[in-house]
Amino acid sequence: QRDMGADLESVLVSEEQIRTRLGELAAQIDADYAGRDLLLVGVLKGAVMVMADLARALHAPAEMDWMAVSSYGSGTKSSGVVRILKDLDKDIGGRHVLVVEDIIDSGLTLSWLLANLGSRGPASLEVATLLRKPEAAKVEIDVRYVGFEIPNEFVVGYGLDYAERYRNLPFVGTLAPHVYSS
Ligand code: PRP
Ligand code: MN
Ligand code: MG
Repeated sequence: QRDMGADLESVLVSEEQIRTRLGELAAQIDADYAGRDLLLVGVLKGAVMVMADLARALHAPAEMDWMAVSSYGSGTKSSGVVRILKDLDKDIGGRHVLVVEDIIDSGLTLSWLLANLGSRGPASLEVATLLRKPEAAKVEIDVRYVGFEIPNEFVVGYGLDYAERYRNLPFVGTLAPHVYSS
């Protein structure tokens, strides 16, 4: 049996920190969307954990829909090439849409996604992300809700993968160098 802990270098954001911060963001979102019907759009696969926990921290009812896009392939660098693997089930015309992401790295995925969703005529379009790497930004994106700004290191866990692994860690951590070199 293999233990994921052996592949980690450090814990960057703990379970407790994630829970506390998502509670704060949920309170802001509840206040900002008071009286409006909210549609959460999760970006598969990375956003599954954030979506699940953020949605449950909200008091207001929210619908959920999902898109699957991919830009990383199996490596650690963003390619800027975005593919739609799964589109939304429903039309978002006239809806208040909040895109839920795990991380904004270069910003290329979200930049493309916001342009795509914006062209569908939503009543409003905002973004909530657990993590953002300011030093890695290649495009400027206006992000309403940010959990944590983190350094430009490759991180895994809480939905974030390295070659599809480590998504099920309950916290966000950095990988030990031997994982990349082997
Ligand atoms: C990751 C992450 C974000 C995106 C951020 O997704 O979940 O969606 O990359 O990178 P960027 O800001 O440089 O574009 P990925 O494409 O790896 O797919 P996944 O969510 O299925 O892991
Ligand atoms: Mn993703
Ligand atoms: Mg990925």
